[in-house]
Amino acid sequence: MADTILSAGNVESAAARRALKNLNKRIVAVRTRIEPADSALPEAAELIRSGELVAFPTETVYGLGGDAGNPVAIKRIYDVKGRPANNPLIVHVPDIAAAQECCVAFPALAMVLAKTFWPGPLTLVLQRGDHICPAVSAGKDTVAMRCPNHPVAQALLRSCGRPIAAPSANTSGHTSPTTAQHVYDELAGRIGLILNGGPCAVGLESTVVDATGMYPVILRPGAVTPAMLGQCLAGAGMAMEVGISPALAENPGSDNLKSPGLLESHYAPRTEAYRFYASDLRGFNEYLRRISNKRIGLLCFEDFAVGAPIWQNRILPSSAEACATVLYSALRELDAMQCDVLLVQFPENADGVWLAIQDRLRRATKELPP
Ligand code: TXA
Ligand code: MG
Repeated sequence: MADTILSAGNVESAAARRALKNLNKRIVAVRTRIEPADSALPEAAELIRSGELVAFPTETVYGLGGDAGNPVAIKRIYDVKGRPANNPLIVHVPDIAAAQECCVAFPALAMVLAKTFWPGPLTLVLQRGDHICPAVSAGKDTVAMRCPNHPVAQALLRSCGRPIAAPSANTSGHTSPTTAQHVYDELAGRIGLILNGGPCAVGLESTVVDATGMYPVILRPGAVTPAMLGQCLAGAGMAMEVGISPALAENPGSDNLKSPGLLESHYAPRTEAYRFYASDLRGFNEYLRRISNKRIGLLCFEDFAVGAPIWQNRILPSSAEACATVLYSALRELDAMQCDVLLVQFPENADGVWLAIQDRLRRATKELPP
């Protein structure tokens, strides 16, 4: 038997319960090892080359990697994660030249951004080339390309010599992993090898930018911010608007067909989680009174003072970059503490990396009930 089989009883919607049941049926249990990245690298490269999956660290979050040219490996990724077939994967490469081989064209806009931000936490959506499986792109004619800035990811890509498709190494809809242990907690029994490269420095998934049009459009915000993209383009004499996907800007919870990974419920802990605003203390205190008999887990910023008893509490740093690094770990810790409810302070500032933190927390939590 697998070390971990997800319990369908914890999952809310009937569709999600069905997906998990099928997932549990399809995956043959394996023994999962966490190995030091340097000693296990040759084995990891060989596994990828032979169509198996390996979890590996990147500077953003851990990825679940498989050969982007092998349809069997791609099917495995979707099965292991329980990922909906309409949500495309990101393809990882060691450098710009390798990315060019995966795409029909690499437009000037993409080249300027890649030269500035690669290797790093920026993913570029481009026209997909022939030797990338259509299944990687969920049937779309585009492919999302990323060149990670992590020595282990770089070494793995170079030593297996193949582009690696890798979504975040969590079960679909759940919080992304930022340590090897998080991956184990998510996928033990479903994959053989996790390369341990320590905690991820960035802590949030990469910025995804559609670079197929006249100007760049951010489909998922991340550590490369709209201002950084704008400055880079202006510096290259390409001053232009940086778009933010309408679904993100106007209606953050809506289905975004350009990037199905931006579906509403995502990045979520398993415990029921609500967001609250320091600017609405009255609403927060009113809700606290209503649930005073429950075990409450609170995730808030350094300067937030609560006047009521709280079962468990984790504090987030007040700088956006430092907050991003520890956010998912803090959510996971609270999620593991048998709380009845998690209350998460929502940052009310969308500058810089806060935009990405807001985006993830909107999808990981619900508004307080009326
Ligand atoms: O930081 C990251 O990007 C991590 C690490 C492992 O590299 N990967 C990651 O992958 O977050 P994943 O699968 O969890 O998220 C990929 C996102 C999804 O929102 C997906 O919809 C979007 O990228 N995406 C992938 N291919 C796309 C495409 N062709 N067009 C539009 N969006 C795409
Ligand atoms: Mg993901």
